[in-house]
Amino acid sequence: VEETYIMVKPDGVQRGLVGEIISRFEKKGFLLKGLKLFQCPKDLAEEHYKDLKGKSFFPKLIDYITSGPVVCMAWEGVGVVASARKLIGATNPLQAEPGTIRGDLAVQTGRNVVHGSDSPDNGKREIDLWFKEGEVVQWTQAQAPWLRE
Ligand code: GTP
Ligand code: MG
Repeated sequence: VEETYIMVKPDGVQRGLVGEIISRFEKKGFLLKGLKLFQCPKDLAEEHYKDLKGKSFFPKLIDYITSGPVVCMAWEGVGVVASARKLIGATNPLQAEPGTIRGDLAVQTGRNVVHGSDSPDNGKREIDLWFKEGEVVQWTQAQAPWLRE
């Protein structure tokens, strides 16, 4: 099964956008299988964004992600990784299309309110990184037959 790690970043939590952001994935029809409010320690932020370690903005990015609680989510569904990236929109919110989360709710790359995994492999890697054993729940939506023929 394909799964993706979605995270409301500290600005999204502080701005009261948690419900709005969860709602977009929920209404789309994906399956929520993990959810928690969490204060991210520095070492976890660095591990999560390790591919960006050499970038000039890396220290600022780590400060941002650890600056307050985040909301961690695991979502499952056919094509969920690419679809979630489309729902989220471009990294720079000024370039993100209206109708996307960043396009509707943010103005700056350094405060772009939400994260989404960029590949199915990273989806699995990031869910393993952010959730402990037992925090991810396998279940069946009662509405499943109304979502997929
Ligand atoms: P994520 O879903 O958070 O991974 O964003 P992304 O995949 O759209 O972008 P990318 O993985 O390239 O960068 C990760 C995060 O680093 C971005 O979402 C931004 O929060 C931050 N970031 C990327 N580029 C810049 C930059 O040029 N300046 C600043 N301040 N932050 C940046
Ligand atoms: Mg990324």
